[in-house]
Amino acid sequence: MNRRIVIAGGSGFIGSALAAEWRAQGGEVVVLTRSPSQRSDRIREVLWDGRQSGEWIEVLDGAEAIINLAGKNVKCRHTPENVQALMNSRTNAIQAIAQAIEKVKAPPPVWVQAGAVGYYGNAKARICDETAPNGMDSLADICRQCEYAFNTAATPKTRKVLLRIGVVLGRNGGALPILARMTRLFLGGSAGNGKQYVSWIHIKDLARMFQEAVSRPELSGTYNAVGPNPATNRELMRELRRTLHRPWSPPAPAWAVKMSARMMKIEPSLALDGCRVVPKRFAEAGFQFQFPELGGALRDILA
Ligand SMILES: NC(=O)c1ccc[n+]([C@@H]2O[C@H](COP(=O)([O-])OP(=O)(O)OC[C@H]3O[C@@H](n4cnc5c(N)ncnc54)[C@H](OP(=O)(O)O)[C@@H]3O)[C@@H](O)[C@H]2O)c1
Repeated sequence: MNRRIVIAGGSGFIGSALAAEWRAQGGEVVVLTRSPSQRSDRIREVLWDGRQSGEWIEVLDGAEAIINLAGKNVKCRHTPENVQALMNSRTNAIQAIAQAIEKVKAPPPVWVQAGAVGYYGNAKARICDETAPNGMDSLADICRQCEYAFNTAATPKTRKVLLRIGVVLGRNGGALPILARMTRLFLGGSAGNGKQYVSWIHIKDLARMFQEAVSRPELSGTYNAVGPNPATNRELMRELRRTLHRPWSPPAPAWAVKMSARMMKIEPSLALDGCRVVPKRFAEAGFQFQFPELGGALRDILA
C-alpha cells in the first residue's frame, strides 16, 4: 500500500506536527515549500512556488493524500496589501494543487484543506456549528473565498475535506508560546472585556483529525476542527495562570491591547474578537478527543 502524503506549506507549525506524526507511523512525507532544505528527519522537501504547477506535481502521482496548509501567516497588520497577500497566497496554492491533481495519472484519493474558524467572523457568544453564517470582516471574507476556490475545484477522483481550524495550542507555534511568555512575566490578564471566545484545539487532536480525514473515506465536506469546549479569553488566561503557577493579573483594556498589537505589528482583532465554535460534524463522526478540557491540554503542552 502507498503511504506517501504530500503536505503543501508543511514547513510551518501545523505541518511539522503532521509530518512528524505521519513519519512516526512509518509513512513517507513530502513537504512542498518555497525554500527547500536538507532535513535530518527523513522528510523530503520539494520546491514549489505555491502558484502554479511545475516539476513538483510528480510527487502527487500515486500519493495517498495531499494536505494543503500553505498561506501567509495571519499574524500581521491587516492592511489592504496584507489582506490581498493573505488571500492570494491561499487561493493561488489551492488553484495550483487543483491543476496538479488534474494533470497526474494517479491523483491522490483525498485532499485535506486547511480553513479557519475565522470564517464565522466575530460571532461573539453565538454557538457556531458548520452551518453558521459567514462573518463580515476581512478574515471571514478571505476564508469564504478560499473555501469557494477549494469547493469549486473539479477533482472527480479526489475526495475533498475542509477543516475550519480553531486556535491551535502547541509548544512550537501559534498563539500559546506568546501567551505563556506573557503569563510567566506576570502579564497574564485577560484581553479587553475577556468575553471573546477562543475556539481552541490541542495540536495532537488536530493531527488526529487530519489523519481521520485522510483515512476515513466517509468523511467529506466541511468540518470544524476545534475542541468540544471553547473557552472565553478570560477562562483561557485564568487556566494559563493556574498551569504556570502565576497569581491573578489585571486585565489589559482594549486600548492597551490595540497599542501593543500595533507595536508587535499584528491585528488587535486577533486578540479582541472571537467565535464560539463547536465540532458538530466530527462529534457525529465519533471523533474521540484526547484533550477535551483546557486544563489538561495546557498541562500537557506546558508542563
Ligand atoms: N496555527 C493556527 O492556530 C491556525 C488556526 C487556523 C487556521 N490555520 C491555518 O492552517 C494553515 C497552517 O497554519 P500554520 O500555523 O502551520 O502556519 P505557518 O506556520 O505560517 O505555516 C504556513 C506555511 O505556508 C507557507 N507559506 C507562507 N506564505 C506563503 C505564500 N505566500 N505562498 C505559499 N506558501 C506560503 C510557508 O511555507 P514555506 O515558507 O516553506 O513555503 C509556511 O511554512 C494556514 O493556512 C493557517 O491559516 C492555522
